Amino acid sequence: PYVIAEPCIDVMDKSCVEECPVDCIYEGERKLYINPKECIDCGACEPVCPVEAISQDRRVAPEHVDFVEDNRRFFIEVLPGRDAPISAPGGSHKTGRIGVDTPMVADR
Ligand code: F3S
Ligand code: F3S
Repeated sequence: PYVIAEPCIDVMDKSCVEECPVDCIYEGERKLYINPKECIDCGACEPVCPVEAISQDRRVAPEHVDFVEDNRRFFIEVLPGRDAPISAPGGSHKTGRIGVDTPMVADR
């Protein structure tokens, strides 16, 4: 899957959301997250991000490697209990702004 790294924090341009054909980019409080179980690796989101926050998990810059696990963590540890879809294909438009981040992002 693709992942969103640190440059998205407090920028949240959201051009990526419009490009994603499976609606798998979810909005937290200060950053967006790609659901690794829904992303089909199409890559459409990567070139549209103005701050180059998005890359494939195998090509993440060394300084952003923690964000691979952190994107996953958002769906495993943060979303459950918040009445939001976790693995149903698509759904970020329905979920809307979730308004919470992973602890790692909240601390930046
Ligand atoms: Fe963030 Fe870039 Fe998307 S800033 S919201 S990853 S277009
Ligand atoms: Fe969507 Fe980007 Fe994956 S456009 S399917 S999140 S590669």
